[in-house]
Amino acid sequence: MNWIEFWNKQQSQANPYKQVGRVLNGQAISPEIMAKIAARIAQQLQLKPHETLLDVCCGNGVLDTLLLPKVATIHGIDLSDALIAEAKQLNLSNLTFSSANAVSFGLNQTFDKSLLYFSFQYIETLADAQKVIENLLKHTHNDALILIGDIPNQLEFFTYYNTPSKWWQWIKQELKGANEMGRFWHPKELLRICENLGVKAEIQTQEPWQPYAHYRFDLLIYS
Ligand SMILES: C[S@@+](CC[C@H](N)C(=O)[O-])C[C@H]1O[C@@H](n2cnc3c(N)ncnc32)[C@H](O)[C@@H]1O
Repeated sequence: MNWIEFWNKQQSQANPYKQVGRVLNGQAISPEIMAKIAARIAQQLQLKPHETLLDVCCGNGVLDTLLLPKVATIHGIDLSDALIAEAKQLNLSNLTFSSANAVSFGLNQTFDKSLLYFSFQYIETLADAQKVIENLLKHTHNDALILIGDIPNQLEFFTYYNTPSKWWQWIKQELKGANEMGRFWHPKELLRICENLGVKAEIQTQEPWQPYAHYRFDLLIYS
């Protein structure tokens, strides 16, 4: 799947939540739920007002606007130039953005905490997953927290694709190389990468009110 093309096209959606795929049953999720998601992220990362946050795969920055009151500064990076252009229009002080690939980015800065949310499914190989986690570690201070959140769970594949017509749709998309859901990860695959890199990590289950809790999980890494 060409994710740059896919996400650049998404920018043409009028609704900022739809631009970043924040949709449930075809409808954009509510601002109240987005605010609750941001509050939960702040709690998981134990964000503090003086801290700097790196947001990898930040999209159009909608989530960052909700996290900004919890920290001193946020820098967001994303593969999609179109979504980064949208994010830059937010024009908020202490909120900066640049275009870069999670697999290969290099910034001349390290951060107190790092986040990669609702996007790890677009990292589709074990080798790239390891590079992304290495990169997050490289850009995050020692003894800090990294949250990779909202990851589709391979163990819940049939919870998501729960009817024969959905299985058929998945097969057709796979054959065309156009599966918009990306990769469902097994929690153990990610824990093994962290173990190989010598860092502690834990799987966190999502809360029932979270829109995709029935098939997604979170990974908290201690850098
Ligand atoms: C579903 S959106 C999530 C945006 C934001 N994190 C949020 O939670 O609202 C996924 C984003 O990941 C970005 N993305 C996908 N693969 C990427 C990669 N390899 N490096 C950087 N960004 C990537 C896309 O461009 C898109 O903006």
